[in-house]
Amino acid sequence: MGPLAELLLLLCVLYGGSCEDSAIIVPGEEGGQAVLPCNTMAVNATSVTWFMVNPRVEVLSCDKEGSSNPKYSRLNGSSLLILDLRLQDEGFYGCKVCSEMADPPAHIQLKIASGPHNITFQISPTNILPNGTHYTSRGSQLNFSCSSYSSPEPTNTIAFHVGNQSELFDSQNTSMLNFSLTNVAPNYQGNYTCTVVNPLSKKTRDYTIPLLVYHPPAYAMGCSVNYTGVPSQFSLTCYWLGGYPAPQLQWENDGKILSNGTLDTLLVTLNSSEYTDKPKPTCKGQHTITNEIKVDTCNVHLGYPNLQSHALRTCIKGENVTLSCSVFGANPPAVITWLRNVSNPNVEVRSGAKYQIVQIGNDSFLTIVNCSKEEDEGNYICKSENGVATKEIYIWLDVTSK
Ligand SMILES: *[C@@H]1O[C@H](CO)[C@@H](O)[C@H](O)[C@H]1NC(C)=O
Ligand SMILES: *[C@@H]1O[C@H](CO)[C@@H](O)[C@H](O)[C@H]1NC(C)=O
Ligand SMILES: *[C@@H]1O[C@H](CO)[C@@H](O)[C@H](O)[C@H]1NC(C)=O
Ligand SMILES: *[C@@H]1O[C@H](CO)[C@@H](O)[C@H](O)[C@H]1NC(C)=O
Ligand SMILES: *[C@@H]1O[C@H](CO)[C@@H](O)[C@H](O)[C@H]1NC(C)=O
Ligand SMILES: *[C@@H]1O[C@H](CO)[C@@H](O)[C@H](O)[C@H]1NC(C)=O
Ligand SMILES: *[C@@H]1O[C@H](CO)[C@@H](O)[C@H](O)[C@H]1NC(C)=O
Ligand SMILES: *[C@@H]1O[C@H](CO)[C@@H](O)[C@H](O)[C@H]1NC(C)=O
Ligand SMILES: *[C@@H]1O[C@H](CO)[C@@H](O)[C@H](O)[C@H]1NC(C)=O
Ligand SMILES: *[C@@H]1O[C@H](CO)[C@@H](O)[C@H](O)[C@H]1NC(C)=O
Ligand SMILES: *[C@@H]1O[C@H](CO)[C@@H](O)[C@H](O)[C@H]1NC(C)=O
Ligand SMILES: *[C@@H]1O[C@H](CO)[C@@H](O)[C@H](O)[C@H]1NC(C)=O
Repeated sequence: MGPLAELLLLLCVLYGGSCEDSAIIVPGEEGGQAVLPCNTMAVNATSVTWFMVNPRVEVLSCDKEGSSNPKYSRLNGSSLLILDLRLQDEGFYGCKVCSEMADPPAHIQLKIASGPHNITFQISPTNILPNGTHYTSRGSQLNFSCSSYSSPEPTNTIAFHVGNQSELFDSQNTSMLNFSLTNVAPNYQGNYTCTVVNPLSKKTRDYTIPLLVYHPPAYAMGCSVNYTGVPSQFSLTCYWLGGYPAPQLQWENDGKILSNGTLDTLLVTLNSSEYTDKPKPTCKGQHTITNEIKVDTCNVHLGYPNLQSHALRTCIKGENVTLSCSVFGANPPAVITWLRNVSNPNVEVRSGAKYQIVQIGNDSFLTIVNCSKEEDEGNYICKSENGVATKEIYIWLDVTSK
């Protein structure tokens, strides 16, 4: 240690301030201002001077209230006020009582924070929808790049968020952070965010890109037909599930488009009177991811209900008789009802004490309890309906005495 350094150290200790290696850090923001307090115990007012070291530059001299440079001025007597801070203002500052000869060590380190500015975040390769949303397809590789201007070097973080959950991909102290995600899965649809934090000012900027992950339907396409319960009306349902976005579905019959849809299920209700010929409805599906197109079709075979029964039954007075009726060939499955031809219109037979109706599979059984000639003899009608057609069959019941 040379004599000068020894003196500096002595002065530094005497003045009770910190020496250069343990200088007080004063943070400032680019464009802002900083106040550096003087560590001298000596008198007030204009009796201190301010200087920078390496190289030594006097920024505020003893004699002046201010300085020739309006950037520097005196505050509260001995403090130094610096306006319009720039990165170049970073460095070590010291103050000295004017009557002293030698400079004490610089006791303040001024650090300037700048930014983060101009944050840019990119995900590539992606496609962009007309509304600006990015999308990619399952299995692709994505490169992320986040950059910004910041001093000191920022903490740069790339993360994925969906709903409540988030996953941190990478975080480093760098102005440009790159990250790669391979074999993207459908559950990586969500928000991708780059967050940049200036370690000095703690100023934070972020940039979020919502990303959709397209994928074809996961399951086979399916079709079904249902009787709506309204006579002569049936519904066709087509579904192709598990894709994103939903596929385009279309029901058609004999080259004629019945309905179009852009949901994963398409339902159309038809009136059988519109189809005198045997209809063969077909559903066509298409799922498109840019130029990757997946198509599928399915169709339903509609079937009229056909009925089978005995034309004639007899019942002994006072006993029970069971009439039966079978339906076959119906698609959608038919609903069977029993009617009595006693007036016009025919009257539907309802289960109760007198009549018992049981359906087992495609067979329906009507039991007439305690036959009487006056009340029960006559025509019974078995009626089946499935929306595609309605069929009826007549059964004559004879009631005899023993
Ligand atoms: C410092 O100066 C101010 C005004 O310039 C004065 O009010 C104050 O009493 C002085 N302090 C000392 C310790 O002299
Ligand atoms: C000036 O000094 C007074 C009293 O010490 C203090 O309250 C005030 O905050 C100081 N002003 C600045 C800008 O440092
Ligand atoms: C940041 O962006 C602004 C405009 O938004 C531009 O004027 C400036 O030059 C950019 N800064 C850098 C360092 O690229
Ligand atoms: C853009 O369109 C897609 C698909 O239609 C939709 O999921 C997304 O929410 C839309 N985004 C905005 C910002 O409107
Ligand atoms: C993504 O990054 C990898 C390696 O970092 C590179 O080989 C590949 O070409 C990049 N892909 C695109 C589309 O930029
Ligand atoms: C993405 O962020 C936006 C805006 O904060 C939010 O409305 C949306 O729900 C987020 N999306 C997901 C999938 O978390
Ligand atoms: C988010 O988390 C809270 C508490 O952990 C929970 O109550 C809420 O249901 C969650 N919301 C979603 C959309 O997961
Ligand atoms: C980034 O810098 C901060 C302080 O600025 C430090 O605490 C942290 O450990 C650094 N992180 C890495 C990954 O180097
Ligand atoms: C990060 O990615 C950007 C854009 O893809 C590229 O220009 C840059 O060279 C990459 N940097 C590094 C360090 O890989
Ligand atoms: C159509 O019938 C099937 C079984 O027959 C049933 O699973 C489906 O829910 C029905 N669909 C509608 C729309 O009623
Ligand atoms: C269904 O979509 C096709 C192709 O997108 C179009 O040509 C047709 O006009 C549409 N039909 C109906 C009934 O919407
Ligand atoms: C007729 O059916 C009723 C109700 O099930 C039953 O109580 C009765 O015993 C039956 N009569 C004969 C003769 O089987």
